[in-house]
Amino acid sequence: MTFSPARRLLGAAALALTSILPAHAQTAAPATITVQVNKPGAAVPKNMFGLFFEDINFAADGGLYPELVKNKSFEYDDHLIGWKAIKGAAGLESYVVSNSKPISNANSHFLRLSAKTAGPDAGFVNEGFRGMGVKEGAEYTFSIYARKGAGNVNGLTVTLEEGSRSLAQSQVMGLTGEWKKYTVLMKPSATAAKARLKLTMNGVGAVDLDVVSLFPKDTWGKRENGLRPDIVQLLKDMKPGFLRFPGGCIVEGMTLDNRYQWKETIGDVASRQPMINRWNKEFKNRYTPDYYQSFGLGFFEYFQLSEDIGAEPLPILNVGMACQYNSAELAPVSSTAKGPNAPAPADEPTLDTFIQDALDLVEFANGPATSTWGAKRVAMGHPAPFNLKMIGIGNEQWGPQYLERYEPFAKAIKAKYPNIQLVSSAGPSPDGANFDLATKRMRELNAEYIDEHYYAKPEWFRQNVGRYDSYPRTGSKIFAGEYAAQSAGIANTENKNNWDCALSEAAFMTGLERNADVVAMASYAPMLAHVDAWQWTPNLIWFDNLSAYGTVNYYVQQLFSQNKGTTMLPVQLPGGAKNGTDNLFASAVADDAAGDLVVKLVNYSSAPRAVTVSLAGAKKLGKAGRALVMAADDLNTQNSLKEPRKLVPQEANFVVKGSTVSYTLAPNSFTVLRVPGRR
Ligand code: AHR
Repeated sequence: MTFSPARRLLGAAALALTSILPAHAQTAAPATITVQVNKPGAAVPKNMFGLFFEDINFAADGGLYPELVKNKSFEYDDHLIGWKAIKGAAGLESYVVSNSKPISNANSHFLRLSAKTAGPDAGFVNEGFRGMGVKEGAEYTFSIYARKGAGNVNGLTVTLEEGSRSLAQSQVMGLTGEWKKYTVLMKPSATAAKARLKLTMNGVGAVDLDVVSLFPKDTWGKRENGLRPDIVQLLKDMKPGFLRFPGGCIVEGMTLDNRYQWKETIGDVASRQPMINRWNKEFKNRYTPDYYQSFGLGFFEYFQLSEDIGAEPLPILNVGMACQYNSAELAPVSSTAKGPNAPAPADEPTLDTFIQDALDLVEFANGPATSTWGAKRVAMGHPAPFNLKMIGIGNEQWGPQYLERYEPFAKAIKAKYPNIQLVSSAGPSPDGANFDLATKRMRELNAEYIDEHYYAKPEWFRQNVGRYDSYPRTGSKIFAGEYAAQSAGIANTENKNNWDCALSEAAFMTGLERNADVVAMASYAPMLAHVDAWQWTPNLIWFDNLSAYGTVNYYVQQLFSQNKGTTMLPVQLPGGAKNGTDNLFASAVADDAAGDLVVKLVNYSSAPRAVTVSLAGAKKLGKAGRALVMAADDLNTQNSLKEPRKLVPQEANFVVKGSTVSYTLAPNSFTVLRVPGRR
């Protein structure tokens, strides 16, 4: 890594000096970039840069959703995942996962412990999600449903420990022969990243345990079932225009049975039934057999999160298709859609089921308290509508089977909710026969947004900066719904969140911004990854059990999002060259609200580059501007848990002379120039 503190200095204050050096001090003549402030283009979409969330890489359980107990209700397919009996002489006589007289049918399994002799080892431990991250002095609510069996077990000892060190201990007292919820507060005496929870029996006999939870009090908004605040803060700091959820392929499932069903994710948290996560066994080299979805973070919480971070909610719904890379199972197109001669076997969901789920979702999000689904939202504590404006029909689907299902689906939504905007899929690749087929049909159908995905080498991003220059200016808009530069190859475990990828994405994003009349929304993917439990790389944000950091890619996204402005401004490169010529990339917008002109410049070159930015026809120009710069000599530069801010935007000031700015772009840099002025 050669991005030394000295280099940082150049990235910050020293940039201000180089930017005002006379032109003759530079080696090459400055390249003149003209921003046609007097020829403004279209409005920049309000929600242009957003977030893509998928429960991959332990993004939900073990990540954003801070429940510390894994498999808290013993309902995973293998009922003891995450749990272990304590070994030792004074241990249990036996244990069993039982379903005799459970708490409820929705929660039908529990753990029965039996001990003949009382002892400190008569119990079980839960390992958490690659351990439990707890902080010194912070408060954690421990809760459990317990029932006393034969014998005299009158309580439980609850210990939070790391190795042999006890961090906190509490007692649960007064057990009875009926299921009852007990709650105690735990306050660790030290911070630990890999703690575990130990439950031991007080007395001899049998005891039944279920819904064991250890939940931090410090959640976003201090909510009882709230989210991890450090991660939410990073999301909010992006100023995201929208939040796409819950994926991703997780929407599709490996089979239809395994698809994401939003209705199963709302209501009482303890009654939400877990399901295997489709990323559990997808990659042999990143095998994660303990990966499930508890749905503690469900659709209500996704809507709430969108509201909290100021993002438009964008749920993506299953269109009757399981992942086409896996089973490719299809729900039959229903009799309503296909005519009376196409009945489906009674036990199979038809497309009608999927359509009804979508219609009900709109009602859940927006409906009044008097409606069936609106009432459920109100009962969960959100009387106001979530103001859902758009939904995605299918994730990354392709081929005639998709179109066959998309059309009746879209028609049904529009018939009931004409104002709901629809996102349609262009498939997994940004070109090819399936892409062409979908794009052509979606345009014929006047689909509002076509969702394009590109996971490609960094050079693809630089070479395709002009991708949208030739797109039709009317009709369907583009949603760049999933993209990320892959340093080694698609889904390759060697992929890095390095500066080469991020800078190439920045270059490409100048093309998105220049075409903001065509590209309505864009989101990097995936969003979150646990450093000890990931399946896919690269990702926008990485975390462990205690902290989280934004990658260099995150800061590029943030710079675009925070500086997206309100109106596109045309940009001309030297000699009318195409954007990207000589690895120089540029776009510009006016931020009418702030009274600034904003120019974005990418210098993908190991040499500094002097530029003269001419703000043609600008009004009310100020004399000093503000630059936000990310620069690193070494394209392999990455942020990490140890160095979370190794490469982040640095601020500097520069002088504006008349209507021009002379500036020297640092090697391998992304620069945002904000100049006070109006169009
Ligand atoms: O982002 C990871 C996966 O890539 C998504 O789940 C899927 O939509 C795409 O193929």
